[in-house]
Amino acid sequence: MTGSVYITRGIPEEGIARLKECCGTVEINPDDRPLTYDELVEQVKGRDAILTMLSDRIDVQLLKEAKNLKVIANYAVGFDNIDIGAATSHGIVVANTPGVLTEATADMAWALLFAIARRIVEGDRVTRKGEFTGWSPLFLLGGDLVGKTLGIIGSGRIGTAMALRSRGWCMKVLYTSQKKNNAVLEEELNAKRVALETLLKESDFISLHTPFTEKTRHLIGKDEFAIMKRTAYLINTARGAVIDEAAMVDALRSNRIAGAGLDVYEEEPKLKPGLEALDNVVLAPHLGSATVETRGRMSIMAAESIIAVLKGQKPENCLNPEVILKQ
Ligand code: DGY
Repeated sequence: MTGSVYITRGIPEEGIARLKECCGTVEINPDDRPLTYDELVEQVKGRDAILTMLSDRIDVQLLKEAKNLKVIANYAVGFDNIDIGAATSHGIVVANTPGVLTEATADMAWALLFAIARRIVEGDRVTRKGEFTGWSPLFLLGGDLVGKTLGIIGSGRIGTAMALRSRGWCMKVLYTSQKKNNAVLEEELNAKRVALETLLKESDFISLHTPFTEKTRHLIGKDEFAIMKRTAYLINTARGAVIDEAAMVDALRSNRIAGAGLDVYEEEPKLKPGLEALDNVVLAPHLGSATVETRGRMSIMAAESIIAVLKGQKPENCLNPEVILKQ
């Protein structure tokens, strides 16, 4: 099988090896940094396939330059960096990496939840500075988890996996869903599907798992912070712009809510001014899928998508199957 493939960042070797076995040429961005938009445009010219990162913007302009391109395999489950409509109209298949990163991302959401509720990062900072002078009854008190209410916004794969982990803490689970009830959550946890407003008012921990679209941009803003409990914690492992970060900085600064655990940012990798100075927020550098095993599975899945399309087949995780049906 021939075909020229470009990978926009170094990824785990297993996916690269798979591509090298099956494709004509496989080139990888040698630098440990994202390509600039102009560099990306240069690299897509003449390629049959590209394996992209969530930081690569794939828009109409770029696709116009990609005359040979047949497939874009995004190394992420989220695909808000890609104009799917434009790819479809250019007859380019787009695939992502769902499923293989569900558990790692749900674990990350819990890691952030624990870290912020039990003030672990704040405690680490204080301890390193030599400010831990001995056990103290009122020192760095956090919030309990057992018996509390967990609100899951967006109950797809990752939201479901996050919620299922709450069994260990006997939590009551509320969730929102765009389309239908989540049978797993209702059967396993007796979870209740509620309106966003109810979830925000009643939850002690709120975890975001919705994809980023124009509809979910700033889903959580000033009005939403205003109705949350003062003791609530907000966790975001979805996409930064689902939260209006300026409103979040105000809410955290004024203790409108108790805290936040964030893995993603509105203008990633930039932080909203003021965020870095707050103690009631834990900031992680987009590590949701960052385990050795998960990233390895993602690399194989993305490689297999490319191989399938170059062989004239439909990849398992195709986001625009209508392109294949037309062929
Ligand atoms: C994704 O795959 O969309 C995640 O954000 C990566 O961690």
